[in-house]
Amino acid sequence: MSVTSKTDEVKKEIEKLGETTSSGKQLMTDIVRLLHDRMLKYNWVGFYMLETSQPPTLALGPFEGAMTPHTRIPLNQGICGAAASTGKTIVVDDVNSDPRYLACSIETKSEIVVPIFVRNQVVGELDIDSHFPAAFNHEDRQLVEYCATLVGKHLETFGQ
Ligand code: SME
Repeated sequence: MSVTSKTDEVKKEIEKLGETTSSGKQLMTDIVRLLHDRMLKYNWVGFYMLETSQPPTLALGPFEGAMTPHTRIPLNQGICGAAASTGKTIVVDDVNSDPRYLACSIETKSEIVVPIFVRNQVVGELDIDSHFPAAFNHEDRQLVEYCATLVGKHLETFGQ
């Protein structure tokens, strides 16, 4: 009998979404819904997409969870800005001890932000907040990075 972890199960469902959806926006909408519904510690799940305005800004895309006051985030602000400007995944186990953190809800305790690349350029990111401290372990990180890579490939192939 094989033992499948929750993250593996959800990853397979997301892989299927990728095969059946030919719009980047639809795939993002489906991913946030699925992650929010299935992963119990993922209390806010949303995409921010990079607008190449001057200065470049992250604009809130599809999301699930409470409305956030941060609908537009400059690249020099927040954990979101740090992930987009460095092109690196950021996992914060205790948001209240990270001076970069922009509060979305007082209940949030930990956060993961994963950049999305199209042709080696950051075009956006997937941001997830949890009401639980240190909610994002290695498996969660792999799952969220898988989603971000899939969206990047989709945007590259089909556009928004
Ligand atoms: N906490 C993020 C802001 C976005 S909200 O969490 C939805 C940050 O520090 O950039």
